[in-house]
Amino acid sequence: MTHAIRIHSFGGADVLRWEAVEVGAPGPGQVRLRQTACGLNYIDVYQREGLYPIELPAVVGMEAAGIVDAVGPDVSGFAVGDRVAYPMTLGAYAQTRLIAADRLVRLPETVSDRQAAAVMLKGLTAHYLLFRTYPVKPGDAILVYAAAGGVGSLLCQWAKHLGARVIGCVGSEEKAELARANGCDHTILYRDEDIPTRVRAFTDGEGVAVAYDSVGKATFMASLDSLRPFGVLATYGNASGKVEPFSPAILAPKGSLYVTRPTLATHIATRALLDEGATRLFGAIVDGKLHIQINQTYALADAAQAQRDLEARKTTGSTVLLAE
Ligand SMILES: NC(=O)c1ccc[n+]([C@@H]2O[C@H](COP(=O)([O-])OP(=O)(O)OC[C@H]3O[C@@H](n4cnc5c(N)ncnc54)[C@H](OP(=O)(O)O)[C@@H]3O)[C@@H](O)[C@H]2O)c1
Repeated sequence: MTHAIRIHSFGGADVLRWEAVEVGAPGPGQVRLRQTACGLNYIDVYQREGLYPIELPAVVGMEAAGIVDAVGPDVSGFAVGDRVAYPMTLGAYAQTRLIAADRLVRLPETVSDRQAAAVMLKGLTAHYLLFRTYPVKPGDAILVYAAAGGVGSLLCQWAKHLGARVIGCVGSEEKAELARANGCDHTILYRDEDIPTRVRAFTDGEGVAVAYDSVGKATFMASLDSLRPFGVLATYGNASGKVEPFSPAILAPKGSLYVTRPTLATHIATRALLDEGATRLFGAIVDGKLHIQINQTYALADAAQAQRDLEARKTTGSTVLLAE
């Protein structure tokens, strides 16, 4: 019997339950995956809490890697034994699952299952933020939140390779050290320091071209106040809660600013978009531009503890849940 982490109600990490599940044969367009490693992402917390509502009961989790062990009708391009991963499909905290084949990416030999589970969702997010939301140019000063975290550590490394001057916000001195190792030129201990004041000090008063803000409610205004004229605020996460409603009128006196609220779902919605991002991401890994940092692993059955640690800001880099 195969097992998965399922929720029957929204709430704290206690609602996550390790349960036996039935997984049948794949239907048209589907494959069955024997999963080896699942990614831990903050979206898993939002879905468990009900901040991003999902239909219940549900196997949670959005990202995993593993081996194709059965192929349904009308599937082309995948065969039994292929090593694959996917970044954004509910039902990932499972030893075995069914999934639409068109959401899968084949893994290069040089990328292990654990690495793929650590980097697909977070790395594809870093990709679209840096190349599509605000295309970073050499010399741009940029602001990255949670710079020692999962997405943040990849954002900082990749931005540095693009020639950016990277300012990273971090929750502790230990995290500041990691952020500097990830390419941050400057760090801000934003639990104590005033973000716009520090940003202006690091940029000769000008401000940053873009703020990649994953913290949300607590930092929205500080991000706006850290931008240069015509700067972009990409508010892409809610670790501190959802951003409060605001009037666009405030953007004019602060320098004709832009605010966007992007999601990876749109940026991988078509096969072409998913392939473009995955090709660039695996290329950056193979070229040594991105070092995948799996700083925590847990047994999949212990997903509740992993989520508690993520919420308590105890994790750095990526966390992988081991399914076998
Ligand atoms: N929109 C998208 O497409 C998309 C895709 C992927 C991820 N995201 C977002 O990106 C963010 C990072 O995701 P991740 O999985 O890589 O997580 P993570 O950054 O590894 O962990 C979250 C970090 O946020 C910081 N944080 C600040 N305030 C916090 C609070 N009140 N509670 C908890 N953490 C707080 C902490 O770092 P410090 O201690 O350094 O502050 C914490 O380590 C999340 O907000 C996620 O929703 C968005």
